[in-house]
Amino acid sequence: MITIALPKGRIAEQTLDIFAEIFGGEFRFEGRELIMQKEGFRFLNVRNQDVPTYVEHGAADIGVVGLDVITEKELDIIQLLDMQLGKCKVAIGIRDEDELDWSCPNIKVATKMVNITKKYFAKKAVGVEVVKLYGSIELAPLVGLADAIVDIVETGTTMKENGLKVAETIMESSAHLIANKHSFLAKKSEIMELYSQMEKVVRGS
Ligand code: PRP
Repeated sequence: MITIALPKGRIAEQTLDIFAEIFGGEFRFEGRELIMQKEGFRFLNVRNQDVPTYVEHGAADIGVVGLDVITEKELDIIQLLDMQLGKCKVAIGIRDEDELDWSCPNIKVATKMVNITKKYFAKKAVGVEVVKLYGSIELAPLVGLADAIVDIVETGTTMKENGLKVAETIMESSAHLIANKHSFLAKKSEIMELYSQMEKVVRGS
């Protein structure tokens, strides 16, 4: 039995569609169900940010999570497959009328992604004061909480509708299949079999 942590919502549905394509039938969480078992797999319906926790602790053998989360949390896991789902980028956003001034001694940045932000600004040798927020990041520069934001940009609509623009892209991201290191050793043949089946579907789509 392989236990798989999936991030609630669209990515979970699209991943379950891949399983349906491989094994036939329907793979779906019913109602508010949090565990679903089918075809020798046990699927866990968890919050996106919690997928790495389930996988790192071995409560799930494998999981699906964004490269942005893998990078932010510096996860000690095995990265198996870029599933080409949930494509987005992590970008620096500023107000339409502003320019990013790299010569400024200290830039105040609001973000959920504290580590990615600190590393990026350190690489540029620019001082950064990070303001940690949990959502609606785009609000921060509009009300003077920060000079800039570092956030996920998918369609760009949220930034556009709030008078912000992308100043710089830090990284591209998409959902990746990851594995717990011990599970990968203990269940290598099962996980590799699933990996190759999933890879075929992902490459074919
Ligand atoms: C994410 C992200 C942006 C938005 C980007 O927020 O933090 O705010 O999506 O998407 P877009 O480029 O397609 O507009 P989310 O919807 O997760 O809500 P949050 O603000 O509570 O984090």
